[in-house]
Amino acid sequence: MAIMVENNGRLFNLHTKDCTYQMYADEYGVLLHTYYGKKIDGENLADLIFQADVGFSGNPEETVGNREYSLDCLPQELPSDGVGDYRESCIALLHGDGSIAADFRFESYKIFPSSYTVEGMPALYDKEDEKGETLVITMREKASKVTVRLFYGVFEKENVITRAVRVENRGESEVVLTKCLSGCLDYQFGEYDLITFAGRHAMERIPERNRIRRTKLEVGSLRGTSSHQYNPSMIVCTPDATEDFGECYGLCLVYSGNFTACAQKDQRGQTRVLMGIHSEKFSFCLRTGEYFAAPQLIMSYSDSGLSKLSQQYHKILREHMCRGAYQYRKRPVLLNNWEATYFNFNKEKLISLAEQAAKLGIEMLVLDDGWFGKRDDDNSGLGDWHVNEKKLGGSLKELGDRIHDLGMKFGLWFEPEMISEDSDLYRAHPDWALRIPGREPNRGRNQLVLDMSRNDVREYLFERLADILEHAPIDYVKWDMNRSICDIYSHQYAGSQNGEVYHRFVLGVYDLLERFLQRFPDILLEGCSGGGGRFDAAMLYYSPQIWCSDNTDAVNRLEIQYGTSFFYPVSSMGAHVSAVPNHQTGRVTPFRTRGHVALSGSFGYELDLNKMSEEEKAIVKEQIEDFHKYYSLTHEGTYYRLTPPGERFCAWEFVDEEKDHALQTLVMTSAEGNPLPVHTIVKGLSPDKYYCCSVNGQVHSGRTWMGAGLTLRMVPKEYESILIEWNVVEKGLGRKPI
Ligand code: GLA
Repeated sequence: MAIMVENNGRLFNLHTKDCTYQMYADEYGVLLHTYYGKKIDGENLADLIFQADVGFSGNPEETVGNREYSLDCLPQELPSDGVGDYRESCIALLHGDGSIAADFRFESYKIFPSSYTVEGMPALYDKEDEKGETLVITMREKASKVTVRLFYGVFEKENVITRAVRVENRGESEVVLTKCLSGCLDYQFGEYDLITFAGRHAMERIPERNRIRRTKLEVGSLRGTSSHQYNPSMIVCTPDATEDFGECYGLCLVYSGNFTACAQKDQRGQTRVLMGIHSEKFSFCLRTGEYFAAPQLIMSYSDSGLSKLSQQYHKILREHMCRGAYQYRKRPVLLNNWEATYFNFNKEKLISLAEQAAKLGIEMLVLDDGWFGKRDDDNSGLGDWHVNEKKLGGSLKELGDRIHDLGMKFGLWFEPEMISEDSDLYRAHPDWALRIPGREPNRGRNQLVLDMSRNDVREYLFERLADILEHAPIDYVKWDMNRSICDIYSHQYAGSQNGEVYHRFVLGVYDLLERFLQRFPDILLEGCSGGGGRFDAAMLYYSPQIWCSDNTDAVNRLEIQYGTSFFYPVSSMGAHVSAVPNHQTGRVTPFRTRGHVALSGSFGYELDLNKMSEEEKAIVKEQIEDFHKYYSLTHEGTYYRLTPPGERFCAWEFVDEEKDHALQTLVMTSAEGNPLPVHTIVKGLSPDKYYCCSVNGQVHSGRTWMGAGLTLRMVPKEYESILIEWNVVEKGLGRKPI
């Protein structure tokens, strides 16, 4: 049993393989957070909480005269609001009389021998042979009849504990939920750093590390999507934490909309960390009997550094979040026509690309933006999901059949959540767009956003998508979303419900995605939002791969894919080889390097194959061979970051489960005359096995390789890269092939 309950049903220990999470409902019903860290035996640790008479930190009425008990100082699971904890709260309620108070106390608990679901939203699910356990704690608001159910899920092997919150109004009158975060972590003692992932379009998820002090650290999104600018994931770690050392706590929100993630020390040096839906521009009316479900928060703990933490996330997301036909099935090597042609294509061009691709071993052609409605640039046509047969020189089915005849799969781009003002859809249904009556809307990429909270909008989109997919042989869909959301006003949820629209939009997107997957279970879905603007755990529930960034520059990709790897598996990162000079940066890098970087992702090409030299075509064939040879390592292996980008070279490694094979990619990011040697480290081998290294043929034990590392005989030139294998050597020094 991972969940242990003692002390008359008031002490809760959640044990995973290496960690323990403990809570205690004290005599006043306050649910104290008493421990989270290395695995312990689970004795009640409430005694470790230091209590003192702290000036200006008041006391709840039940403590009668005990000035040492203050909500303002206690570590808690569901910090209250407006009733004496002056720190950041988890939940806030606006009552009918205008008062703002939320004071939740323990009522009861239940345990379930399986994982829980979250209404309308993705959540980690059970596998046949690997089930989580769930603890549900019911808390009741002291004065109103609002209840909160706190969900705790335990995945033992992965050291994962999840949280989710469900608020229900069991009272007679309406209340407004003005804040409902998914989780809080209170640390009584210790110094911590916070690692967040910040960026911008075409430069996503660059790690930033700051010491948590009394000045609040906060990141988040108010763009309606999880955003390029900040990712809904963060790490709290001890200041000495490195890839291999130190305590690390990951927090990853399963949500694709507005979020907040913050950390701050209080007056007594205690650290509070919170994550959930952003409370700005959020409110939810709860009439009698109505409820609100907050998204799941996936927490994981590592007692030995960041690499282990990342590996735990990779495993849990790959095995318990990604779903569908392509969760484990080999992904096809694709050619996307976007950077090859942009909007400027016709049937002949597409077929010549496909023919060339087929000759080189590429397995799928993806037709990107521009195949529907009036869409020869990005100013019109969104919403008109009708095939432009004139541009395609025939039906989509004919084109798809031609591509299938070449032995290739066929993929198609959509951007369902958007509407152009210059579209038949907008002319027919201007009220379907999010815009505030009487105000000119903000235009992003010259387009508006559909009101996905509305059923009729989703019905229309589903009918259009289904019609197209049923009448053409489509194997893959790229689901794009190309602007941030503002001008929030929904004709369906106007007035007092306006604060619900951002969240209802996200629920609407999930609803449409779910219907789509139920109807087309064999289609491979790739998520996208101007590259990686919606790269989050929730989207992985629908699309096992997400276009990582619109930036295809191999050197910038080192940073982007490095940052992405802290939470998300390599198998989820769409990565393509593109032309040089690179369209985003103008940089020229070797063709091989572009391949090596893209191989650490969902691999493909995005360039005009007809403009390639014979030498480049030969390299494409080599790369595709490498793709097949290393597929199980890159997509299922254990991933290690070896160096951060910004050093002389950037290196990372994959090791298979049996620890028989390791693959290291090393990219030289700067060069000097009279170069100093390149010495790289090796991780994850079995100390007692012997391995032969592909670059020098040397055989050493895993212990020696991991202790001494490898010096390259030749220093690669700037931007050159190298793949290095370590293969286990069986008796007689025979090499075991990958
Ligand atoms: C976004 C995507 C690109 C491409 C274009 C098409 O920017 O990230 O890959 O699909 O849209 O308009």
